[in-house]
Amino acid sequence: MPRDGYNGAMESIAAKTIVILISGRGSNMQAIVEARLPLRVAAVISNRPDAAGLAYAREHGLVAEAIDHREFSSRDDFDAALAAAIDRHRPDLLVLAGFMRILGDAFVGRFAGRMINIHPSLLPVFPGLHTHRRALAEGVKVHGATVHFVTPSLDHGPIVIQAAVPVLPDDDEATLAERVLEQEHRIYPLALRWFAEDRLVLDGGRVRIKPGHAGSRDSAQLLMAAS
Ligand code: GRF
Repeated sequence: MPRDGYNGAMESIAAKTIVILISGRGSNMQAIVEARLPLRVAAVISNRPDAAGLAYAREHGLVAEAIDHREFSSRDDFDAALAAAIDRHRPDLLVLAGFMRILGDAFVGRFAGRMINIHPSLLPVFPGLHTHRRALAEGVKVHGATVHFVTPSLDHGPIVIQAAVPVLPDDDEATLAERVLEQEHRIYPLALRWFAEDRLVLDGGRVRIKPGHAGSRDSAQLLMAAS
């Protein structure tokens, strides 16, 4: 169980710090915590005080905060309060993990190049909501998930890694969502491991992944990474 917000690798003096934003269940946040990455999780912040993920975070010794968006009269006011709360933890990277509020341009600009998101589709197809329903309606044969840096345009930005799953003839929204979620839990910790190891390079609109040290566990999985 992590202590003091450390998520593994206590020996790493220069461990980078992340803040994770959630809105609900927080299963991606759990996958990140359970991966015991060489990162310090400074805080988990939710826009919904009743988010199940906040209870998990507290039980695991993490700082867990809620900033209820319903208490703010405008999106800009909420964004400003959220940004101030995040800044108090001085994160190197802001990790959106099932965070379901649209963030304004000023917020996105403030965290440009240091904010990452997971989206349940193979972007750039199916940005926005109900991705599994839309994938089924379109009859696509392959669906998946994408980890990407956040830009002002919704669910769009330099792609770090994607995982694809087949769409099976008898899938419904729930079975497809479950198959994709399993991959989300695999690729988000991997993307963050690369970040922790200083291997993500933003190169214009693309992400380059620097090779790992010899014997690195993830070399085979680099095949899935966008270049
Ligand atoms: C995930 O599918 C995520 O990609 C999407 O919403 C879902 C959140 O799941 N944006 P969880 O809260 O991480 O369990």
